[in-house]
Amino acid sequence: PPLSEILNLHDFEAIARQIMPEKAWAYYSSAADDEITSRENHAAFHRIWFRPRILRDVTNVDWSTTILGHPSSMPIYVTATALGKLGHPDGELNLTRAAARHGIIQMIPTLSSCSFDELVDAAQPGQAQFFQLYVNKDRAITKRIVQHAEKRNIKALFITVDAPQLGRREKDMRMTFDAADPHEIGKSGGGQVDRSRGAAKAITGFIDPGLKWADIPWFKSITKVPIVLKGVQTWEDALEAYDQNLAGVVLSNHGGRQLDFARSGIEVLVEVTEKLKEKRGITFPNNRFQLFVDGGVRRATDVLKAVALGATAVGIGRPFLYAFSTYGVDGVDHALQILRDEFEMNLRLLGSQTIKDVVPAMVDASNIHTH
Ligand code: FNR
Repeated sequence: PPLSEILNLHDFEAIARQIMPEKAWAYYSSAADDEITSRENHAAFHRIWFRPRILRDVTNVDWSTTILGHPSSMPIYVTATALGKLGHPDGELNLTRAAARHGIIQMIPTLSSCSFDELVDAAQPGQAQFFQLYVNKDRAITKRIVQHAEKRNIKALFITVDAPQLGRREKDMRMTFDAADPHEIGKSGGGQVDRSRGAAKAITGFIDPGLKWADIPWFKSITKVPIVLKGVQTWEDALEAYDQNLAGVVLSNHGGRQLDFARSGIEVLVEVTEKLKEKRGITFPNNRFQLFVDGGVRRATDVLKAVALGATAVGIGRPFLYAFSTYGVDGVDHALQILRDEFEMNLRLLGSQTIKDVVPAMVDASNIHTH
């Protein structure tokens, strides 16, 4: 169908399921084990309700914000997703280009299909990019990757901490991944390739399961770029990250692709803001330690719920993959335009002129932990 018939982010998924190559669909859509967490990620947003305010002059509304000090036209960013060329020959370049058009930030994955430098070179002047790091067992390689990213003006380093071993994604495992597949693994990954059990397994053998809290000072010693941990799932670990002076955490379960029955990021957000206030007197959002959420975000209302509960911004993964796999860069462009329009309307209906006006009292999250 023409793009004009795509009315929301769910529509891209429905079309992608029908027309994407089987292997690409299996890799993008798959999640761990019985995919309970994957489904729960979106469902959890359904347990939060709004408390909109009225009569507040919403003629002009502004949904722009800043993320780790960098302007963003919306409180969202493109999160890191590997192997963009499985879905489209231009791979992650589709995301870089659409992010430029809309003034939002892209997180470049370690396992991008396009090379890291290609994605940095494709950015417009002033377009901020983040880098997602999988930590290599060989720390000399990791050091080289991080310092190269810093030299190329990457604005923040997101270290993925929820994947010491790969989750079991059975849809993907039923596919074999051979040399003829239309992908190129970014040079940063390296290591052995096992092609017999799906795309995911084929590319992740280099990741270090030995990574530990005591390694954090080393990362700080090799770079001045702000460091955020991606994949925090409890207030205890969020508190540790805060105490280690990191720039923030992403409350995420990797799109349900790692530990099945991990809770949704939005649910974890509620306990993190409560406990960090209780233990350290800190409130959110603030500039010293920022909270991000990803997983199951499909509507601006999902984003606004997270923002109301203290998140600085929210990451979106699969919807953009489905958008470029079906319509290339124009698909991602259209997905971002849909979100833009949703932000405008929903801010008005909430009675908020700006993102700063989307405060905790605008949501009722009292049933977030109940099913
Ligand atoms: C991911 N994700 C991910 N995360 C990461 O840190 N490094 C990576 O290489 C990848 N690769 C990846 C591939 C694919 C196909 C998907 C779907 C996801 C996880 C990603 O950053 C994010 O946590 C989730 O995708 C968010 O959930 P939604 O928006 O996809 O529901």
